Amino acid sequence: MKAYFITGTDTGVGKTSITAGLAGSMRKLGIDVGIMKPIATGYPNKTGFKSSDVAKLVEATFIKDPENLINPVFLPLPTSPYDATKLLELSVDIPLIFDQFKKLLSMHQILLVEGIGGIMTPITKNFFIADMIKGMDIEAIIVTRATIGTLNHTVMTCKMCKDYGIKIRGLVINNFDEKGTPAEKNSPSTLYELTNVPILGTIPFIKDLNNTEKLIEYVDKYVSVRSLIS
Ligand SMILES: Nc1ncnc2c1ncn2[C@@H]1O[C@H](COP(=O)(O)OP(=O)(O)O)[C@@H](O)[C@H]1O
Ligand SMILES: [Mg+2]
Repeated sequence: MKAYFITGTDTGVGKTSITAGLAGSMRKLGIDVGIMKPIATGYPNKTGFKSSDVAKLVEATFIKDPENLINPVFLPLPTSPYDATKLLELSVDIPLIFDQFKKLLSMHQILLVEGIGGIMTPITKNFFIADMIKGMDIEAIIVTRATIGTLNHTVMTCKMCKDYGIKIRGLVINNFDEKGTPAEKNSPSTLYELTNVPILGTIPFIKDLNNTEKLIEYVDKYVSVRSLIS
């Protein structure tokens, strides 16, 4: 019963891809792994799950847990969660998120929780992703880009975790850029020097990332997955 919260410097940084890769890789190592996406937004799609992130996470792991446990809150608008609640005139059931988290935690050896956006993404005016991580009382893994501009985001994310008292298990550097092409700009040693957070791995640009087997293979090869399960 161990859990990690996969957050990132931003949206689109690779949280879902890396969570799916980590979960798939842990599963191959014989771990009973669970996944959770507490809040998702977006238009419902044709994957059989409301959230495309949930579909990707389930595809990598073959997890059979019910969707209402994996994804207790789905807001059907492709906006930030707080904006979605305002536009849809809905509220987010935060106690439900913690209840489902506790259930999933008790059901698996390791639970990987994918956040939404970054550490200070608001869920309500006064409740941010950082509050969710703090409430779950689990370690964070921060996915960061390698492109210029991300040092700023990474340092800020680490600093906010420190302010909240959230322990960071490590950084995963995702070497692709916003154009979806390979990027190698900031060095891992600079990120480590500035944050003092261990670098769990650096993922290269993966051309056929939609091939789940390939994604798992890359994550297994480039991230120290075994250090997360011991
Ligand atoms: N290492 C990579 N190589 C190539 N494409 C990537 C890589 N990591 C992520 N992507 C692509 O970037 C997009 C955003 O990734 P995703 O994992 O959905 O990010 P997030 O969950 O943080 O929003 C997706 O289209 C994904 O296929
Ligand atoms: Mg995602």
